[in-house]
Amino acid sequence: MARENMDERWGFETRAIHAGQKPDPQTGAITVPVYQTTTYEQDEVGKDRGYEYSRTGNPTRDALEISVAALEGAEFGRAFASGMAAEDTILRLLNPGDHIVMGNDAYGGTFRLISKVLTRMGVTWSAADFSKRENIENCLTDRTRVVWAETPSNPLLSVVDIEMLSEVAHSIGAWCVVDNTFATPYLQQPLAHGADFVVHSATKYLGGHSDVVGGFIATNSPELDQEIGFLQNAIGAVPAPWDCYLLLRGVKTLSVRMDRHCDNAERIVTFLDGHPKVADVLYPGLSSHPTHDIAKKQMKKFGGMVSFTVHGGPEAARMVAGSTKLFTLAESLGAVESLIEVPAAMTHLSAEGSPLEVDDSLIRLSVGIETTDDLLEDLSNALS
Ligand SMILES: Cc1ncc(COP(=O)(O)O)c(C=O)c1O
Repeated sequence: MARENMDERWGFETRAIHAGQKPDPQTGAITVPVYQTTTYEQDEVGKDRGYEYSRTGNPTRDALEISVAALEGAEFGRAFASGMAAEDTILRLLNPGDHIVMGNDAYGGTFRLISKVLTRMGVTWSAADFSKRENIENCLTDRTRVVWAETPSNPLLSVVDIEMLSEVAHSIGAWCVVDNTFATPYLQQPLAHGADFVVHSATKYLGGHSDVVGGFIATNSPELDQEIGFLQNAIGAVPAPWDCYLLLRGVKTLSVRMDRHCDNAERIVTFLDGHPKVADVLYPGLSSHPTHDIAKKQMKKFGGMVSFTVHGGPEAARMVAGSTKLFTLAESLGAVESLIEVPAAMTHLSAEGSPLEVDDSLIRLSVGIETTDDLLEDLSNALS
């Protein structure tokens, strides 16, 4: 859906609440109604009122598409049934023989989709450490069409220089795709740094309440949006109207939630960094983090995700992850409640034995918005 009903001067918080979300003209309802319908009456044969079938278009979905596009500073946005559905739709732009370069710490599901599904269609791939330009350049072939990055990455929280990545991709006519799930548009807007596509697991911070699975693609290119729109309808991995409503509701509070996620994460990082049982803390906000300077350049704050290793290896990591009370042992991230997991045994199990394999003593925290001191006490008890 193209961006409309929006004043270009609006700030982020105003966009989150008003872009695409005018009161209902018929009833004055202040929230966008859930248009729980599959089809729409037509005035005459071939003459509809903008909607014909809900896979193709739905007013609740349109509102969500306008809203998130406005937050990404994008001209166009498309909503999907999950982050993976959004990723798959972008990758369906490829043809047999085309090549993808992805970061070597991509989300396990992204790696699985590319290495186990796309390869069946003759697409090839390489993975590289994106911290250095030459690593990416060394992977490029004359068939590279996509350079795919997550920043900050999952679970190592490495930050990739989006401007550099876009330059490298564009030098050979490839698209730069940035998975902005961890940062959200509140902290970072990849299109402004040259990316061609932003992709989201809206299941995470955009929804923010662990109650809806969704995905999103944003772009500034009318041609690419046309192609994505065609695939969205042709493949049909669209979100239900109720899910669009939940996502719209979540997005309204994105800025206040993100501020609190970031503040809580920073306090937890300070605690972990000085703890005798903690071996290493990964957080882009730490000045010792290898990609801290890039994070400072392209992010507003450093996010709500924290990874760390403990002395004592995998056994100790599992014990800590199993001992917290407020941090729930669970996959997923980005919601109001704090979560803890061991990626090598949970979210990133599918990367085992691959270049994307994760250290099995790594613990990942999704820091929620609970009272900071309660979270610190919970971690302190688990570590001791
Ligand atoms: C960074 C990232 N991208 C994409 C996905 C996939 O999204 P979904 O689970 O909504 O399909 C995830 C899921 O955890 C993720 O963490």
